[in-house]
Amino acid sequence: MQNKHSLATTLVHAGRNQRVCQGSVNPVIQRASSLVFENLAHKKEATINRAKQALFYGRRGTLTHFALQDLMTEMENGAGCYLYPCGAAAVTNSILAFVQTGDHVLMTGAAYEPTQDFCNTILSKMAISTTYYDPLIGAKIKDLIQPNTKVLFLESPSSLTMEVQDVPAIVKAAREVNPDIVIMIDNTWAGGILFKALDYGVDISIQAGTKYLVGHSDVMIGTAVSNARCWDQLRENSYLMGQMVDADTAYTTARGIRSLSVRFKQHTESSIKVANWLKQRPEVKAVYHPALPSCPGHEFFVRDFTGSAGLFSFELKEKLSYDKLSAFMDHFELFTMAYSWGGYESLILYTQPEELKRIRPNIDRTLTGTLIRVHIGFEDVNELIADLEAGFERLQG
Ligand SMILES: Cc1ncc(COP(=O)(O)O)c(C=O)c1O
Repeated sequence: MQNKHSLATTLVHAGRNQRVCQGSVNPVIQRASSLVFENLAHKKEATINRAKQALFYGRRGTLTHFALQDLMTEMENGAGCYLYPCGAAAVTNSILAFVQTGDHVLMTGAAYEPTQDFCNTILSKMAISTTYYDPLIGAKIKDLIQPNTKVLFLESPSSLTMEVQDVPAIVKAAREVNPDIVIMIDNTWAGGILFKALDYGVDISIQAGTKYLVGHSDVMIGTAVSNARCWDQLRENSYLMGQMVDADTAYTTARGIRSLSVRFKQHTESSIKVANWLKQRPEVKAVYHPALPSCPGHEFFVRDFTGSAGLFSFELKEKLSYDKLSAFMDHFELFTMAYSWGGYESLILYTQPEELKRIRPNIDRTLTGTLIRVHIGFEDVNELIADLEAGFERLQG
């Protein structure tokens, strides 16, 4: 399905119609559990259309939710969008909607740690097995597909080691073996727009909307945009699992999305500038920014993406001792040490080589030095570089 308008225009105008806006620019915030039926005929009609944006009961959504769902659906070229209380819930409920006891899941070994933990604990408890594959496997994915493989899960770029996957090759090869396999991607890094997953044959594009959709580090939400083939099953299973967000969260997320493409322009410019500066630092072994050739899968980024997010990592030549790590990490003026990413602010975290082995046991990536992950926000980029430079200077002292 092709959008009538360009992405920039879609982000501003989608999900804003008379029904949901009621005369204002933005959708109304309709907080409701009970939604009132005027008479029997109205109740009957609402019941028939309860999965089609009729006002039925709070857990099926209100005008505020419908506005966000329409915006997301149009933005990612899908048939529908389900909303979850956080990104992890979007990941787990999307998988759960398509598997049952005895099934098999193919999961990228570079996936976000809790996604892997979910497979190892919850899915295995249900006798659903998981095989982890090399994120750069490409068309060889076909060798791993078993008769009971129901879900193929991607995350690209991965959010720590940053491998960019060859999605078209993986999708094509998987469908040649099993046309019905459900292919889903954690598309958080791309905000659902830098890489239009559904246009590449993926069935479900999942986001921790907590990151770029919200964009201000103050709200948690997960989204899953599905194509027509998988929409009914995803929606009804997620509904049975009791997944829902409150109207204020839905409103705040839609507001964040209005500036998504503008924010990504700045993330692209600033993060690539910082990455290139890091590349020539003597302390740095390699920079894993999808836009740089040193990032695994860089060629797929160049081919398939329309811009960059602010998140990337780089490996130092040295494995820093605790004291050196503390000297480096504890005194940044602008970079804050915190989990998550996707907001307007710059963040920094570290991973030691032995820690990476523990949290990403299913990929063949051996670090020799400390891995630093940064999120480049909207501060003046030269001041961010100066902050990092001061950090490197502290390593000399
Ligand atoms: C790639 C990725 N997916 C999913 C999640 C989970 O999102 P949430 O924290 O909203 O549950 C995160 C959170 O850091 C993430 O980085």
